[in-house]
Amino acid sequence: MIQATCFVLFFVATALGRACPAIPSLTSFNSSTLPDPFTFANGRKVLTTQDWACRRAEISTLLQRDELGLMPADPQDLTAAFSGKTLTITVTDNNKTLTFAPTITFPTTGQGPFPALIAMGGISIPSPPGVAIINFNNEAMANQDTAASRGLGLFYDFFGTDASAGAMMAWAWAVRRIVDALEKTPTANIDLAKIGVTGCSRNGKGALVAGAFEPRITLTIPQESGSGGTDTWRISDAILANGTLTQTASEIIQENVWFSPNFDQFANTSVNQLPFDHHMLIGMVAPRALFAIDNLGYDWLGPFSSYGALVAGRTIWQAMGVADKMGFSQAANHTHCVFPSEQQGQLNAFVDRFLLGQDVSTANITTTAGTYSFVVPNAEWAPWRVPVLKKRL
Ligand SMILES: *[C@@H]1O[C@H](CO)[C@@H](O)[C@H](O)[C@H]1NC(C)=O
Ligand SMILES: *[C@@H]1O[C@H](CO)[C@@H](O)[C@H](O)[C@H]1NC(C)=O
Ligand SMILES: *[C@@H]1O[C@H](CO)[C@@H](O)[C@H](O)[C@H]1NC(C)=O
Ligand SMILES: *[C@@H]1O[C@H](CO)[C@@H](O)[C@H](O)[C@H]1NC(C)=O
Ligand SMILES: *[C@@H]1O[C@H](CO)[C@@H](O)[C@H](O)[C@H]1NC(C)=O
Ligand SMILES: *[C@@H]1O[C@H](CO)[C@@H](O)[C@H](O)[C@H]1NC(C)=O
Repeated sequence: MIQATCFVLFFVATALGRACPAIPSLTSFNSSTLPDPFTFANGRKVLTTQDWACRRAEISTLLQRDELGLMPADPQDLTAAFSGKTLTITVTDNNKTLTFAPTITFPTTGQGPFPALIAMGGISIPSPPGVAIINFNNEAMANQDTAASRGLGLFYDFFGTDASAGAMMAWAWAVRRIVDALEKTPTANIDLAKIGVTGCSRNGKGALVAGAFEPRITLTIPQESGSGGTDTWRISDAILANGTLTQTASEIIQENVWFSPNFDQFANTSVNQLPFDHHMLIGMVAPRALFAIDNLGYDWLGPFSSYGALVAGRTIWQAMGVADKMGFSQAANHTHCVFPSEQQGQLNAFVDRFLLGQDVSTANITTTAGTYSFVVPNAEWAPWRVPVLKKRL
């Protein structure tokens, strides 16, 4: 009887898998290399897809706690109305109301429902034929003019100026509400399974955060997002220490309000105490699709830092056996946020496959016009191995 009970308990425990480990307290971490995405903060290894779900949740919690601020819970009520080109979204919580109204530019041919790209602060890539563009005014949602913009914008009018969320988390929250609104308005004629997000430079940082924190986004396209986007804090600090002027955490918190005030303590002392870096923000998008667009022309953007982050982040797709869903392209020097024609074919492949549903390959789109080399594992930056995650019930 006891044996039988034990057997049943063992069987149930195996079927349910192990519980997610507890998340360690603040600043118990210290690593000059990029933290291992496949090891929990408490040291346990990530071995299965179910473990990854726990690890992803842990990374999400840590990124919110130490860098981006908290993503507010879903609102009590949301209503949406579509008229002309305008999607009017009204969010209600605790008797407060927030209204914002993205505009949609539709393809001039075809019947829909159309795939869509949410354009953070407008679109900087060529608008793909057949794809609706949803223009999201992120500046009005959370201002990003200077370091004095903290707490300014519709998000803070609604949640209070003491909300921990920095501007990028505020924008990500609003992107989630745009997807909610599209779900409630079939007349907007958008294909809910084919929604992407894009933005350039500061808005590229925001596009990455939105793609990481909204699982209903199918394709994330950060463009020239630099530090705070596809760069890692640690490699950017090393580039600066080597004498090349690039944007780092300690500079970025003085410049703008993209991050939570909680980030200041790390940016002011040592980013080595962050239990994550941005290869893990990138990896939160997996197994959904991501295509990162970079420009080698600006030291400020830290192109080697981005290269390292993208190679390291891509290991998360590799571990899941879906590396072809993640790609990146670093073009030679050109004007910031002016998309060069040599990247068009690579962009088309991702848009065609993930937004237009075409049977095209996105395998091995991992190019740089630079001379960087970065592999995983490497002793200097990524001394960890990539597992093959086993699928569990
Ligand atoms: C982190 O580790 C480095 C190198 O081992 C050491 O010099 C530094 O004092 C440590 N920092 C903290 C806050 O423990
Ligand atoms: C919202 O307003 C109603 C009616 O004035 C009031 O009864 C209720 O307590 C308010 N709720 C909150 C959370 O303030
Ligand atoms: C810094 O310079 C050293 C010595 O040239 C080099 O080995 C290292 O790769 C450089 N690191 C970065 C991040 O630029
Ligand atoms: C970070 O450094 C800035 C500039 O020295 C200072 O104003 C701010 O109070 C510091 N914040 C923290 C949390 O250390
Ligand atoms: C990119 O081109 C501009 C203009 O020709 C030049 O000033 C700049 O130094 C170049 N950047 C790099 C990294 O070569
Ligand atoms: C992609 O690269 C891998 C590893 O080098 C290779 O095995 C595979 O054949 C490549 N796939 C395509 C479609 O080029």
